[in-house]
Amino acid sequence: MEEVVVIGLGYVGLPLALLAAKKGFKVTGFDINKDKINNLSSGVCEIPGIIDKDLIELQDSGVLKFTKKLSKFISPTIFVIAVPTPLDLRRNPDLSYLEEACLSISKVISNGSLVITESTSYIGTLSEFIKPLIEKFTTASDLHFAVAPERIDPGNEHWDLSNTPRVVGGISKKSVHLASHFYSSFCKKVIQVSSPEVAEAAKLLENTFRQVNIALVNEISVLTRSINISMHEVVDAASSKPFGFMEFRPGIGVGGHCIPVDPVYLGYSGDKNNVKMDLVKLSNLKNQNQVKYVSNYISTYFKGNLNGKKIQIVGISYKKNISDTRESPAIELINELRKLGAKVFWHDPIVKSFMGEKSEDLRLDIDLGIVITQHKIINFQSWSDIKFKILDLSPGDHVLGLPKFF
Ligand SMILES: NC(=O)c1ccc[n+]([C@@H]2O[C@H](COP(=O)([O-])OP(=O)(O)OC[C@H]3O[C@@H](n4cnc5c(N)ncnc54)[C@H](O)[C@@H]3O)[C@@H](O)[C@H]2O)c1
Repeated sequence: MEEVVVIGLGYVGLPLALLAAKKGFKVTGFDINKDKINNLSSGVCEIPGIIDKDLIELQDSGVLKFTKKLSKFISPTIFVIAVPTPLDLRRNPDLSYLEEACLSISKVISNGSLVITESTSYIGTLSEFIKPLIEKFTTASDLHFAVAPERIDPGNEHWDLSNTPRVVGGISKKSVHLASHFYSSFCKKVIQVSSPEVAEAAKLLENTFRQVNIALVNEISVLTRSINISMHEVVDAASSKPFGFMEFRPGIGVGGHCIPVDPVYLGYSGDKNNVKMDLVKLSNLKNQNQVKYVSNYISTYFKGNLNGKKIQIVGISYKKNISDTRESPAIELINELRKLGAKVFWHDPIVKSFMGEKSEDLRLDIDLGIVITQHKIINFQSWSDIKFKILDLSPGDHVLGLPKFF
C-alpha cells in the first residue's frame, strides 16, 4: 500500500505525515481544523521540529496534500488515526474525537485497507471500539487493524520518529505484518507484540510509570522541605547509583496530553475489568495536589493575605522549549493564586498568548517571581538585581544562582 491518510495533524500526526511523504508514500493529511489546514497548505506550522520549507517542498512535489474533506479511496490505503483522546469535564476518557475519526474513515475506506491507531486509549479500544465502529458504517471488506502507539517527545532533539522503537500489535498476523512493513520504512526498530491489547497496555504503562515516579518524588519533596533538605540534592545523590534507579524531578505537577491523562485511561481499563488501580489513581491525585501545596506555601509567605499581591509566573507551557499548554499545572497555579486575590502576570516567550492574555516581559514591580518552565530562550538577567523573592520551582538549571524550591 503506497497511499497513506493521516487523520489529525497535531504533535503526533503531522511529523508522521511529513516523514511518510519523505519516505515515498503518497500522503493525505486530514484535519477538521480549517485554520490548521489553511496554514499547513501555505507552509505555516508551530509544531517543534517541523520545517516550513519541508511543508512547501513536499506539497509542491505532489507527495503530500492537506485537506479538510476526504474523498473516497479506491485502492487499499493506510489510515493512521492521530486524534486527541483527552478527558471530559469529569476527568473520564473522552472518545468523541476518535469516534468522529472512525466515522470519517468508514465513509471513504476501500477494500483491503489498513487502519492503524496511534492515539493513546484504554486497553481494548482497537478491538472493542475502532474496529466495530468502522465496520458498522462501511461496505468495504477485508480490512486490517493495528495499534502502533506514538512515543514522540516534542522538543526532544535526540529521540525522534526514526530512532524510537515502535511497538505494533494487530488483530491478525496480516494486520501486524502490514503495519510493521509501513513503520519499518522510516523507523529503525519495530517490535511486534501478540495482540493490540499488549500494545495499548504497553503505552499506558510507559506513561503511568512516569506519573507514579513523579508522584513519588513530589511526595518525598514535601517531606524534604519540612526537614530543610533539598529534594534535588537527594535525587542527585540517588542518581549516582549506576543501576536500578531512574532520575525524576519534583515540581508543581505534570502536564501535557499524556502523563496526566494516560493513567486515567489505565484506571478506566481497571474499572472496566473490576480491578482496583489504587496506586495509579493516587499518583494522579498526588501530582494534582502539588499546585495546592505550592499555593498554600505562597499564601503563608504573604501571611495569609494575597489580596493585590503582584506575582509573575515564568514559563506556562507544561515543559521546556515547547508551546503546549494542555493540562499545564502552571496555568492551574495562576488560576489558584488569582482565586486567592493575587494579581498574576506571566512571561512565556514561546506560548506568547493564552486565553486572551499576552505574555509580558519580566516585570520589576512585583512582590514575587515564580519560575516554573525554563525555556532555553528566557533571559533572567533583568531579575538579577531585584529585591523581591523568587521561587524556582523548575526542574532545570538554577535561576540566577537561587536555591530550588524543592
Ligand atoms: N503529544 C504527544 O506528545 C503525544 C505522544 C504520544 C501519544 N500521543 C497521543 O496521540 C494522540 C494525538 O495527540 P496530539 O498531541 O497529536 O494531539 P493534537 O491536539 O496536537 O492534534 C490532534 C489533531 O487532531 C485533529 N482532530 C481532532 N478530531 C479530528 C477528527 N475527527 N478528524 C480529523 N482530525 C481531528 C485536531 O484538530 C488536531 O489538529 C492522542 O491520543 C495523544 O494521547 C500524544
